[in-house]
Amino acid sequence: MSLKILGTGSYLPPKIVTNADLAKTLDTSDEWIFAHSGIHSRHLAGPDESTVTSAVRAGRAALAAAGIDASEIDMLAVATCSPDYLLPSTASIVQKELGCVNAFAFDMAAACSGFVYALEMARGYLTLHSGTTKALVIGAETLSRIVDWHDRASCILFGDGAGAAVVGCCDDGVDGVCHSYLRTDGTGYAHLLREGGTHAPIAEGPRPAPTLQMSGKPVFQFAVKALPNVVERLCGEAGIATSDIDLFVPHQANIRIIDSAAKRLGISRDKVFTNIDSVANTSAASIPIAVDEAVRAGRLREGMNVCFVGFGAGLTYGGILTRWPYL
Ligand code: UT7
Repeated sequence: MSLKILGTGSYLPPKIVTNADLAKTLDTSDEWIFAHSGIHSRHLAGPDESTVTSAVRAGRAALAAAGIDASEIDMLAVATCSPDYLLPSTASIVQKELGCVNAFAFDMAAACSGFVYALEMARGYLTLHSGTTKALVIGAETLSRIVDWHDRASCILFGDGAGAAVVGCCDDGVDGVCHSYLRTDGTGYAHLLREGGTHAPIAEGPRPAPTLQMSGKPVFQFAVKALPNVVERLCGEAGIATSDIDLFVPHQANIRIIDSAAKRLGISRDKVFTNIDSVANTSAASIPIAVDEAVRAGRLREGMNVCFVGFGAGLTYGGILTRWPYL
């Protein structure tokens, strides 16, 4: 029994905010943001949108691309760090909205590595429950509701959106083509952090909404090492050279991190998928949005060596190397 990505989908809110728009209210400039991150613009959720609504649209698109009904989904995972509520899970509401009536649903809290983590959980579940089982894996974020819009060192990096993939079993006879490597370095947990949980007792009086706090430099330093290390490890396991990767789809956090990794790995720029200029960093949604764009742009063809790598708060990191579209 083989596992295969049966269809992908994505959703970006229609509202586009450029660097120049941000510079109207923030002490920044288009030149600084683009030079330091590779970002020109980002999509931000409108007042009627949320992580649930984006996840539902991306999930619906992936189901349509796979040609399957929502009732056929057995496992529904939503990777997010900007859930609609702390409880219940975003996935529970998405399950209702999509009509995945036969699915168990849960959120994956692994920040920017969330989609890769959840895809690997789906691979494990489908391997254990082979047959007609199918999983819908979504990465969805509304980071615009959790960033500090007064902090120019972090808010300029983020955007909103969602991406999704349907994974299912098939009998194509393509097995053992997928390699994965997932890790967490909790010693760096404080570098990317948002209060609002049970860490501290409930304070008296009105409290400001907790926002995302990021120490950019240590995260950058961690990322420029983690990204190539994951790829080297995956290629080593698969017995291929890093230059044999046909399409590298890294988390879209900063073009300088991506370029530095590609250079160290000897992966030519035309084999690296990027959309950071117009999508920015959408955390758990970053990789599935990029994958869906790559599919629609005809950049993913059967038999290609494809590598997805995520890294982010936790500090989490990890990747999947696969022969598209098999897992
Ligand atoms: O998805 C989760 C993973 N997250 C990441 O991967 C983020 C990793 N970190 C980064 O991408 C980078 O560290 C940033 C893009 C956040 C910052 O870039 P940097 O090159 O490390 O800049 P910096 O923090 O060293 O700041 C350089 C200067 C500072 O001014 P001084 O102290 O040199 O006078 C900052 O105050 O740039 C200033 N600065 C800005 N200037 C204009 C910081 N943010 C801005 C801004 N506009 N938006």
